[in-house]
Order: sequence, then structure tokens, then C-alpha cells
Amino acid sequence: MNMDYKIKTEDGYGYIPINEDVDSYEVCDIELETLKKYPKNFTDLLDGVLTAEETEDLKTSFDIIGDIVIVEIPKNLENKKEEIGKATLAFTKRKSVFMKKSAIHGTTRIRDLELIAGEDNNITIHKEHGTRLQLNVEEVYFSPRLATERKRVSDSVRENEKILDMFCGIGPFPMVIAKNNNVDVTAVDINDSAIKYLEKNIKLNKLQGSINAICSDITEVEFKEKFDRIIMNLPGLAYTFLDLAMDLINDQGIINYYEFSDSFGQGIERLQSAASKKNKKVEILNTRKVKSSSPGMWHVAIDARITD
Ligand SMILES: C[S@@+](CC[C@H](N)C(=O)[O-])C[C@H]1O[C@@H](n2cnc3c(N)ncnc32)[C@H](O)[C@@H]1O
Repeated sequence: MNMDYKIKTEDGYGYIPINEDVDSYEVCDIELETLKKYPKNFTDLLDGVLTAEETEDLKTSFDIIGDIVIVEIPKNLENKKEEIGKATLAFTKRKSVFMKKSAIHGTTRIRDLELIAGEDNNITIHKEHGTRLQLNVEEVYFSPRLATERKRVSDSVRENEKILDMFCGIGPFPMVIAKNNNVDVTAVDINDSAIKYLEKNIKLNKLQGSINAICSDITEVEFKEKFDRIIMNLPGLAYTFLDLAMDLINDQGIINYYEFSDSFGQGIERLQSAASKKNKKVEILNTRKVKSSSPGMWHVAIDARITD
């Protein structure tokens, strides 16, 4: 039987598509509808293009941001990027597939991307924990892999906190926090595109709390108040801003500190050293490995209570 076509019934006869003549059946030549095949999984879609192992590795490299998929294709498979793009589009049912062309770089922490399938549109709306986040994937930093961390921080916030997000990007931390808590968030980022989207996102979401967006280098903002919580998600460089954070934190305030490390010891020491310079004390409340950043290295989170 030829599985590419549908069986047809007409005028009391049944027509079965075949690949070769069959004895004891009458063979005729008629038009049959083609059968749409829906591949069961990504491996089926790339059958004959990649090995099953190569396909499995690719699948773990997807980041889905709204209607856009960002995929990391190893150098040795780049000559198959078109097939990979089409398969990714069919498998994820999103609108565009972009391939990573560089590591995350520069002050604004963005990466170069290349469209490999679907619509040429780098703007999308990503939904996360009941919030809507509009962004341009080529102009701003955003990682959907931090969603659980953002929710966890939001769940630890208390009513009426004054919060500073020192490196807010498009505002995923402020958005989930202000959606679920009656708080005042000051959100700062040096990337004007990130702040443009944050301002759109403030309007897109129904928030309990308020968010004040500031486009600036955090070291150049003149603060007139101190904060009950400071979020420092710039993991490569956050430690260089700890002195400033110690000046801006209220007594008993909490710093949600992030860095790249193979352990928690280095971050804890950095927090303690910055605090002792200002005669403050550190109580470590919690430590977590948020996600792997490179072999053996983690994006780690340390929650610390700072006391005067
Ligand atoms: C890793 S991203 C984190 C963004 C956001 N917190 C999130 O979770 O999506 C770090 C952000 O810090 C911003 N940034 C880097 N240096 C900065 C500085 N000196 N002052 C303010 N923002 C800065 C970058 O533009 C980038 O958006």
C-alpha cells in the first residue's frame, strides 16, 4: 500500500493506493488525495539530515521567546541550517527561527542572530507567569530560562517593599513582582531599547505595584532614597557594583545577588567584603544554581540580608 495517498470510496467502490500491482485486485488509474503526514517528533523531521543524537542535542538548545525560537547550531552542522530552521519551525509551531551567531557580548548583553526560517520579525510578546513582555530579540537581553528564578524572587517579596532592579533589561523581574505585589520598583538599565520595551510592558500589564523606569548607567543615577530590596542580575559584573548596593540598601534589606561561578563561596565572600567596608553585616538567606552557564560554571543566586 502507498501510504502517501488517502483511500477513496466512490459509487460503491473502494480505491486503495498501491506501490505495485497486486494479484486478485483490479488495478485502475485515478486521482487520489495526498495524505498529510504530521511528524511525531523533531527526530522524524530531521530524519536523513541529522543523526538522532545530533537532533537530541539541538532540541536542548532551543529558547522559545514568544513567537520566536532561538537555536544554537554547532559549527559542524551550520551547512544544514536551512533544514534545521524548517524542522524547528514545524516542530515548535512558532513564527520565526533565529540562529545564534555570537556569544552574549558588550555592556547591553545582547547577541548577534541570523534568521534561518519563517517571518523576518525580531519583535514578539513573551508570556511569563501571567505577564506579557514585548521585546526585540536582537536589541535587548532576555532569557526565558530565568522564569522560575523571577517567580521565586517575586514570591519572597513582602507588601510595600521599595525595590531597586539595578540591571532590569525589559523588566521581567519588576513585571512579575509588581503584578503580584503592592510595591514600588525602580528599574534601571543602560540600554535605551530595553527601557523603551519596559515602558511598553508597564502599559501592557495590569500591575498592583508601580514601576519607575530609568534609562541610565546605574552609577550615574542620583538616588534620594534607599531600598528594601536590590536585584543585581548582571552575573558577569554584579560584584563590581556591590559597594553601591551596600550604600543603597536599607537596614535589614535584601540583596538578590547573581554571578557566574562554580560555587557559592566566591559570591558570599564578595558580599561580606563589600558589607564590612561599610560596617554592615551579611546573613545569607538562600543560595541556588539558577542555570548552567558553561561546563562546570553556573549562574548562581545568593539572597543576603544586610544589617547596619
Ligand atoms: C543579564 S541582563 C539582565 C536583564 C534582566 N534583569 C533580565 O533578567 O532579563 C543585564 C542588563 O544590565 C544592563 N547593564 C549593564 N551595565 C549596566 C550599568 N552599568 N547600568 C545599568 N544597566 C546596565 C544591560 O543593558 C542588560 O540589560
